Amino acid sequence: MAADSVIAALNEQIGHEYAAHQQYVACAVYYDAETLPQLARFFYRQALEERDHAMMMVQYLIDADAPVHIPGVAAPQNEFADIVAPVALALAQEKRVTEQINTLAATSRAEGDYTSEQFMQWFIKEQVEEVATMSDLLRVVERSKTDPMDIEDFLAREHPAEEDEDPTAPHPAGA
Ligand SMILES: [Fe+2]
Ligand SMILES: [Fe+2]
Repeated sequence: MAADSVIAALNEQIGHEYAAHQQYVACAVYYDAETLPQLARFFYRQALEERDHAMMMVQYLIDADAPVHIPGVAAPQNEFADIVAPVALALAQEKRVTEQINTLAATSRAEGDYTSEQFMQWFIKEQVEEVATMSDLLRVVERSKTDPMDIEDFLAREHPAEEDEDPTAPHPAGA
């Protein structure tokens, strides 16, 4: 049985993951309008990953026979000063989510809810990857902001359309 405080925190985290989804769609649309299709594609795909994170938590709560409340989210930032700004925002967001995930794991352990603690392990690993990916991208975008085609080439080369499925990933609800 999942601990009540963990159930409440997971429901809150579902909102953070949906907020991340909306923010990444806004970033993708900004780059699409700037005719930077690789940056747009990268953020559209990141957005889908955030939606999956939310739906993995939904599935976990359903499996745990715990209540799920799908929340509304605040509007994301839609205007950006330059092509660096969305990536800087994304990195800050990933760092914030990492703290939220770590807190969820810590709460689970403190409550003796080891099932939820184990569920959070995949997200801890995922956050290491996402923070690393965004810091790399921020470095590239800052270095090449006057020559965005270099950024586009970097993404086409390093983040091609097909990414390997992660067989250890939790199942997203509805997938
Ligand atoms: Fe996420
Ligand atoms: Fe993320």
